[in-house]
Amino acid sequence: MFTIMSLKILGIESSCDDTSAAVLCDAKLYSNIINTQHIHEKYGGVVPELASRAHQQNIVLVVKEALSVAEVKLSEIDAIAFTLGPGLLGALMVGASFAKGLSVSTGIPLVGVNHLHGHVLAHMLREKEEERFVAKFPYLCLLVSGGHTQIVLVKDYLRYEILGKTIDDAAGEAFDKCAKVMGLGYPGGPVIDRLAQIGNKDKFSFSKPRVDALDFSFSGLKTSFLYYLRDNLKQNSTFIDQNIEDLAASLQKTIIEILLEKLIKAVNLTGITQIAISGGVSANLGLRKDLSDLAFANNWTLHLPKIKYTTDNAAMIALVGHFMYLSGKISNLDAVPQARLDFLNI
Ligand code: KG4
Ligand code: ZN
Repeated sequence: MFTIMSLKILGIESSCDDTSAAVLCDAKLYSNIINTQHIHEKYGGVVPELASRAHQQNIVLVVKEALSVAEVKLSEIDAIAFTLGPGLLGALMVGASFAKGLSVSTGIPLVGVNHLHGHVLAHMLREKEEERFVAKFPYLCLLVSGGHTQIVLVKDYLRYEILGKTIDDAAGEAFDKCAKVMGLGYPGGPVIDRLAQIGNKDKFSFSKPRVDALDFSFSGLKTSFLYYLRDNLKQNSTFIDQNIEDLAASLQKTIIEILLEKLIKAVNLTGITQIAISGGVSANLGLRKDLSDLAFANNWTLHLPKIKYTTDNAAMIALVGHFMYLSGKISNLDAVPQARLDFLNI
């Protein structure tokens, strides 16, 4: 890998319900604009058609703003990194088509980025006035989002191995679905996190799944949580309202334990003690605290992403784009967004 001075990457992310654009100069962030689509809140989950439409509405303005905040002209950009997948196909199409149009009209090369690679590098993001993060490889990344739950062995900026993954629901889905049955709206993770801070996490206990090796499972927890509420509501119709904080805290504790038990296992199996977390669920304050305590007790080096880079953003896409561009991984104009892009595809 060679280094070019002042390499400027425009990142574009549109895989789900955030329209985002970012400008990265020499791997440092000059802007990161995120337009989160609130229209989905009233539907209790992301509505794909509405997401595509909102991306279409927002994308030009978001990209313009990213360039303007960064004080970088489009003509100065060296590469346009856009999310190729995984994600909602219609939503991905908006970002990909926009990136292609921009590339054709300016001649700037395109780099199609795997969204999950973005999450895995997100803890490295630094703003322009900060010192650059120097990564130490290999590290283990616990990737926990609304669509994914994986333990990834990160060997280098662009070399990964998945050590374990969920066999059903993702951790974020467990938060969201359990929040929904308690009437807490969407997305439920942040609300549960907030309530959990004032609840008693030992008040209720929920059984944890038995899954082989480093894989995860969350669908059983969701079902047992649902049945537990249903049984208690039969006897006391205000059970949820009376116990909302304790339910949130106990549920969150169970999810965190499931995640951290597997992470400990991964450390023991690999001997790797450089640890990162990423994805929307890595914003969870309970998870951050318990993981920090665990890391301290075991002498692990922990890399927590800034909260603003845990959920979907174009900064992380631009960062992967930076390393892909340096490695000559340029996309063709016929690159097709993929809803189910394999993690290992770059
Ligand atoms: O990474 P992300 O923005 O999108 C995906 O790629 O999936 O993650 C969204 C997920 C949602 O399930 C949301 O409930 C969860 O991240 N989330 C949280 C928190 N903030 C976001 N879960 C638990 N605690 C939080 N503070
Ligand atoms: Zn994501």
